[in-house]
Amino acid sequence: MAEQKATNVHWHDHRVSSEDREKLKGQKGAVLWFTGLSGSGKSTIANTVDHKLHEMGKHTYLLDGDNIRMGLNKNLGFSAEDRAENIRRIGEVAKLFSDAGLITLTAFISPYRADRDAVRALLPDGEFVEILADASLETCEGRDPKGLYKKARAGEIKGFTGIDDPYEAPENAEITLDSDNKGIDELADEVIAYLESNGFLSM
Ligand code: ADX
Repeated sequence: MAEQKATNVHWHDHRVSSEDREKLKGQKGAVLWFTGLSGSGKSTIANTVDHKLHEMGKHTYLLDGDNIRMGLNKNLGFSAEDRAENIRRIGEVAKLFSDAGLITLTAFISPYRADRDAVRALLPDGEFVEILADASLETCEGRDPKGLYKKARAGEIKGFTGIDDPYEAPENAEITLDSDNKGIDELADEVIAYLESNGFLSM
C-alpha cells in the first residue's frame, strides 16, 4: 500500500462530526462496494440501487469504474499494481463521502481480495458493505455488452479479468447477488432490504 511521503502533516479534527452530518441526513454513511466480473451487472445494479434510494429521499453518490478511470484515475492501467492503486484511491474517496454521511456506491471489478480488504480496514466497523455481483464467466461473456470479451479472446486485449487475469471472489461478502438468474430490479431490492434491516436508512 502507499507509503506516507509528506512529513510534518497533522490530522485535524473537525467541529462538525460524522454523526452530526448523518443526523442531518437521517441516514448512516456507508460504502456499498460492488465487485464482480465485467458484465456481471454490478454497475447497472448499483445505478438502480442509487436511483431507488434517491427516490426514497436518501443522499447517495455513485462512483463508477469507467467514469473514474476517465478522470481521477486516468493515469492508471490494468496491471496488478495499477488496479491496486485504482482501488486504494477509490477507497479513500469513498471513505470521505461516507464520512460526509452519504450512502456511497462503488462499482469496480476490484479483482484482488487484498485490495478490497484494505478498503474495508480503512473504514469504521460496519460501514463497508461488500456486494458480490455473482455471475459466471459464461454469462458475462455471453452478454459482452462492450464487446471486450471478444477482443480478449482474440488476443486484442491482454490481461482481461476472467480470461487471462485473475478474479478473486469475496469469501465473506455481506451480500451475494445471483445475477446469473435474477433481474436487476429484484437484486436492487435485495440490497435495499439489507440496508433497511441493518439500520442504514435511519439515524
Ligand atoms: S479494476 O480491476 O481496477 O477494479 P475497473 O472496474 O476500474 O477495474 O475497470 C474495469 C473496466 O475497464 C471494465 O468494465 C472494462 O470496461 C474496462 N477494461 C479495459 N481493459 C480491461 C482489462 N484488462 N481487464 C478488465 N477490465 C478492463
